[in-house]
Amino acid sequence: MSDDWKRLAAEAALDEVRSGMKIGIGTGSTAEHFVRALGRAVAGGLDVVGVPTSERTAALARELGIRLATLDEIPALDLTIDGADEIDPALRLIKGGGGAHLREKIVAAASATLIVIADHTKLVPVLGKFPLPIEVVPFGLGATRAAIEHVLARHGLPVSLSLRGGADHPFVTDGGHMILDAALGAIPDPAALAADLVAIPGVVEHGLFIGLAGKAYVAGPDGVRVVTA
Ligand code: A5P
Repeated sequence: MSDDWKRLAAEAALDEVRSGMKIGIGTGSTAEHFVRALGRAVAGGLDVVGVPTSERTAALARELGIRLATLDEIPALDLTIDGADEIDPALRLIKGGGGAHLREKIVAAASATLIVIADHTKLVPVLGKFPLPIEVVPFGLGATRAAIEHVLARHGLPVSLSLRGGADHPFVTDGGHMILDAALGAIPDPAALAADLVAIPGVVEHGLFIGLAGKAYVAGPDGVRVVTA
């Protein structure tokens, strides 16, 4: 059921896309439905250029004949359409379940607006049940981890980090980094935590998206609804 809702939300968001637009294209299972819908629209004559947020999305978009560019070629986009792991009532997000949040955030920040697509289970009153992905540089991992633990403790949050993929086969992002997932339960002040995490030298980016999303297409048993902050 959840995958049908993801597809419904993704297809509804295609309404936002007009010929001539430059769009960021997200990553994940919901974004994949969007890429497929976009591919069909492009085959039908829609003229857009897309900036993918991951190698995975780029490969699928290319296969479907969607014209792609980089942010070096097009530094400002009309909009980005992307999934999320959690969405709170202020449209603050946790992203990065698929490990693409660094490129996703760069692309979203270069866009006039970020439009989220999701099934209704992603809506939460408070962010934090989904473990927060924190992307870190492999060099100095032990010290970076200790600094993150210190920040979490200072925020009164549980100190429980796990290296995605495990020590023997760590997950490596498109940028060549690793991910520490922080099981926090609830994040009472996402903005303060976001600021303190990015201030740590070995932290490249984290999955808190604050002030980026303008609208969400959310699908559930009652159909698709558009949520704004
Ligand atoms: C990718 O890194 C993520 O930010 C995804 O956008 C997020 O995990 C949502 O994924 P699904 O659409 O697969 O649930």
